[in-house]
Amino acid sequence: MSTSTGVWPTPPRGPAAPSPPDEVSGQVGKRLAELAAAAPTLNLFPTENLLSPAALRALGSELGARYPGSEGEVFHYGDPYQLADLYALCAGLTGEYFEVRHAFVNLLSGLHAMQSMLTTFCKAGDRVLVMDPDGGGHYATARICHDLGYRVGHVPVDRTSLRIDTDRLAEAAAADPPNFVYLDLSTLLRLPRPAELRAAIGPDALLCLDASHILGLLPSAYGSELWRDVDLCSASTHKTFPGPQKAVLLTDRDDLAQRLDETLPFRVSSGHTGSVAALAVTLEELMDARGAYGRQIVANARAFAQSLAEEGLDVAGAGFGYTETHQVWVAPPPGLPHAEWGRRLLDAGVRSTTVPLPSHGRPGLRLGLQELTRAGAREDDARAAARLVARIVTGRLDPARGRQETGEFLAGLPGVTNRFGTPD
Ligand SMILES: Cc1ncc(COP(=O)(O)O)c(C=O)c1O
Repeated sequence: MSTSTGVWPTPPRGPAAPSPPDEVSGQVGKRLAELAAAAPTLNLFPTENLLSPAALRALGSELGARYPGSEGEVFHYGDPYQLADLYALCAGLTGEYFEVRHAFVNLLSGLHAMQSMLTTFCKAGDRVLVMDPDGGGHYATARICHDLGYRVGHVPVDRTSLRIDTDRLAEAAAADPPNFVYLDLSTLLRLPRPAELRAAIGPDALLCLDASHILGLLPSAYGSELWRDVDLCSASTHKTFPGPQKAVLLTDRDDLAQRLDETLPFRVSSGHTGSVAALAVTLEELMDARGAYGRQIVANARAFAQSLAEEGLDVAGAGFGYTETHQVWVAPPPGLPHAEWGRRLLDAGVRSTTVPLPSHGRPGLRLGLQELTRAGAREDDARAAARLVARIVTGRLDPARGRQETGEFLAGLPGVTNRFGTPD
């Protein structure tokens, strides 16, 4: 058995190691062997998570090469494994997890889900509001909407409260009523308030939450309440939700589900069966702990942020406990290039992202605590990670010593768990 996942401690502390690349030769085999032997890293990307050993096995199985069967008037794809049952099981578990009536699980990624959603419900000339990239929106959304011929406007964000500015949104909606409002929240500390958004845009526009970042927080943040004001949700399944790289579409409305049923066969034909299996495994593993998982992520993110602030760093959001999500934002001192902090962390074995921070109007660290949480971290661990990060970015810890301390920190974590803080 290989001794490292390349990104996390060895079993039993971390997930199963990838299969040793014995049967792969040549350049690729060499590269895979290097990756399997790489030192563990502390992952603070807000866009990634850990798969459990069981989910990894499902992902790496023969299922990854098989289509479910299907039949129509002029075709028949015979599938002795009856994999359509597995897709239906996964959709059922998704519906149960997010307390929603309709779930589609054959989307391949967040961007694929976004485009499938937009092209199902919008046509050229429609007025579509999306998040402003400077206010935390995804970099690709407005461009995609322009390319599809929509009339694009931005959902305004208040730079002080870091919330969507519902007064200005209401003004924009009254001036030019939107057909579709797509909340592509990529960089966010505050959770959207659906009732206020609905009041601002009126009853007619479809409201779609892109929960790619916060999918794993939906049960603790909203439960079934979400569906009172939100019509549709698209989301990747590998950020706060610790599933495979994939996406889902959700809706509580029968009429909208019917439209998705009609269009989705023309947006995707291979739902990637191995990923569907891995998603189903993850949903089942976390089902009973889904609320506790979300609460622990936020508790860890707050503890992490508070400790960074105590270390003297410029952390956004002190006025509201620093964060309501998995994300924590930290700005480097003016004049210091943001990438310098990213590089110092990288050299010490810490994965991090820097992006433009709506709070500061310039780039800074956007870190996420979801992966540490899935690896069993509690608030004390989050505080220890924050002290480590602070010493690395301020240059108090040299890279070699940083890598050693990062490894020691990781080795002290329980590894992938389904037990978190207060039970549901
Ligand atoms: C709001 C939002 N939508 C879509 C995406 C794209 O997701 P994926 O990388 O799974 O395509 C992201 C990625 O971060 C995102 O933040």
